[in-house]
Amino acid sequence: MTIRLGDVVPDFDAETTEGPIRFHEWLGDSWGVLFSHPKNFTPVCTTELGQVARLKPEFDRRNVKVIGLSVDPLDAHAKWSDDIAETQGYAPNFPLIADPERKVSDLYDMIHPNASDTLTVRSVFVVGPDKKLKLSLTYPASAGRNFDEILRVIDSLQLTATHAVATPANWKDGDDVIIVPSVSDEAAKEKFPQGWKTLKPYLRIVAQPGK
Ligand code: BEZ
Repeated sequence: MTIRLGDVVPDFDAETTEGPIRFHEWLGDSWGVLFSHPKNFTPVCTTELGQVARLKPEFDRRNVKVIGLSVDPLDAHAKWSDDIAETQGYAPNFPLIADPERKVSDLYDMIHPNASDTLTVRSVFVVGPDKKLKLSLTYPASAGRNFDEILRVIDSLQLTATHAVATPANWKDGDDVIIVPSVSDEAAKEKFPQGWKTLKPYLRIVAQPGK
């Protein structure tokens, strides 16, 4: 199933390392990150899960629940955790879905047969509190993801969800932002009374709201 930006993401029941869940109920009012990794006991995946565990307080601070998935069974997740703690310094501190029957993997189109018939690709789905898809990424098995980038884009998504701004290339929290073109100069005077810099009529730079 293709899931596009703005779609309500499919709900599902799954077994996880923290017990059975129903996805939407588990998300509650939080933002969510659902990410797949191709296979347990593999090197790149081991580093990725260690990084997500290290960054868990950063996801928590942003009210984001994180959940991983692979097609391995539950007992394999438990055994692998010790290796992740030993080699990465952090054990998984978030649930991992066991999807040996590929129910969730198929529902979210995480298996790309021309890459691999049996393993998931490295998918990331960022879901808003309204259960709608805000961002998706697909990486191949050979490239570990940059989870700092996922936090960075969550900062952008959360900012732009509540302010009439967009974030420029390489933006990070605290940098100046862009007034969206749909806001007229007249309306911008009310929203941004401190003023802004006009580089072009369509390119107006303003300090990040709330900073
Ligand atoms: C890895 O995580 O290192 C990996 C997983 C599946 C295929 C290739 C690499």
